[in-house]
Amino acid sequence: MAPSETDNFPSTPGKVKMDRSNYFGRVASRWHATASARLLSGSAILLALTLFVLFRISSYTVAGRYMTGANSVPIAFKPDHVWETRVRQSCLPKKDEGLIVLVTGAAGFVGTHVSLALKKRGDGVLGIDNFNSYYEVSLKRARQALLEKQEIFIIEGDINNKELLKTLFDLIQFTHLMHLAAQAGVRYAMQNPGSYVHSNIAGLITLLEVCKDANPQPAIVWASSSSVYGLNSKVPFSENDRTDQPASLYAATKKAGEEIAHTYNHIYGLSITGLRFFTVYGPWGRPDMAYFSFTRDILKGKPITIYQGSNKQDLARDFTYIDDVVKGCVSSLDTAGMSTGSGGKKKGPAPLRIFNLGNTSPVTVPNLVSILEKHLKVKAKKNVIKMPRNGDVPFTHANVSLAHDQLGYNPTTNLEIGLKRFVKWYLSYHGLERPVKSRRL
Ligand SMILES: NC(=O)c1ccc[n+]([C@@H]2O[C@H](COP(=O)([O-])OP(=O)(O)OC[C@H]3O[C@@H](n4cnc5c(N)ncnc54)[C@H](O)[C@@H]3O)[C@@H](O)[C@H]2O)c1
Repeated sequence: MAPSETDNFPSTPGKVKMDRSNYFGRVASRWHATASARLLSGSAILLALTLFVLFRISSYTVAGRYMTGANSVPIAFKPDHVWETRVRQSCLPKKDEGLIVLVTGAAGFVGTHVSLALKKRGDGVLGIDNFNSYYEVSLKRARQALLEKQEIFIIEGDINNKELLKTLFDLIQFTHLMHLAAQAGVRYAMQNPGSYVHSNIAGLITLLEVCKDANPQPAIVWASSSSVYGLNSKVPFSENDRTDQPASLYAATKKAGEEIAHTYNHIYGLSITGLRFFTVYGPWGRPDMAYFSFTRDILKGKPITIYQGSNKQDLARDFTYIDDVVKGCVSSLDTAGMSTGSGGKKKGPAPLRIFNLGNTSPVTVPNLVSILEKHLKVKAKKNVIKMPRNGDVPFTHANVSLAHDQLGYNPTTNLEIGLKRFVKWYLSYHGLERPVKSRRL
């Protein structure tokens, strides 16, 4: 989870001693000393990112084939009459005034749940996903089958495929884009940084380019992340807190996404809402996340690794149940407000919003493990170690009052109940409904 060194571990908020008389003078001189250094390092990072993006874009447009970056899966795009019919049917709202939403990352964890919720209330939904193998493709296929039962079509394609996106926008007047496709995961960025640039930066720009040219332009809601708060130590995290200290490349690409969103809103009049999700969990969740891999390993009798921060402090997360996050996403779409541009030109100011979607009550990792042990009826073998410097942060804690005021967001599922539902799904999905005999509590 987070850098364990003392210099990166936030001090207990509110306990910093300050000599008031010298405080402002010290801040001013520190600012002078560090401002130019910050500016230089900031510009260097920006330049490096830009060069990397240009390199990736140029290497991904060979002969109309696009690679997933993370996993080098080639995806060809072949529209035909059957394909067009499926697209149109999937997009047909079942109620008057229903939205028509393109959901990126629809075979992903959050994308699947949001797509189902929209379809259930009568909106038209079309998915797009490149089915990359960052985690088990079989799980993405199973989610796809779930959506197909509800007549939601997922196009197998990459969000960097501009030709594919343009064809879709020519075919369908999407009222909204729910953009959830991304290279997720904090630690994987140290293994495969290019996949983050490919999906989270280049892919975002490709989507925004197509949206700004669309007529009418759709309103956009997209997933940023609580990781943008990085080393921020003021709790709970509020939307106005500083987000210029990302602790991972993943966080840096999400922060870059927020700045890119500002640009497209400012120049082209796109209505854009960014949602900072806080550790979303639940049925059909992501196998790379701790609650999921702990469950798998506890059931196999394998030891689980629990990280601790400096001074043996337990790590904590503001675990947010998927149904609560879905409500926040749907409400964001409903309240998004129109984009104002047409033909690539802005006609007036458009909404630009950012919201925390968290649960407001962080739970420590050992607590999470105890709840899992209880629901799984199996005792975990624990290996507690000092957290390596791998991009994680020691704690997250959301202030959701803005989302509450503007979206009516009100998370109601605590970790105890949410994990019970997750475990029920996990056992059923893996055909493990019968109790595990070894190491019973
Ligand atoms: N789950 C969380 O706790 C959490 C927390 C903060 C932010 N987020 C963000 O929420 C969004 C959804 O997360 P999730 O947990 O559902 O992740 P996920 O990995 O399950 O879903 C993302 C989906 O996007 C697809 N995808 C990735 N790159 C693509 C590309 N270039 N083109 C087309 N499809 C692509 C993947 O195949 C995957 O199915 C992501 O943007 C993620 O960064 C999630």
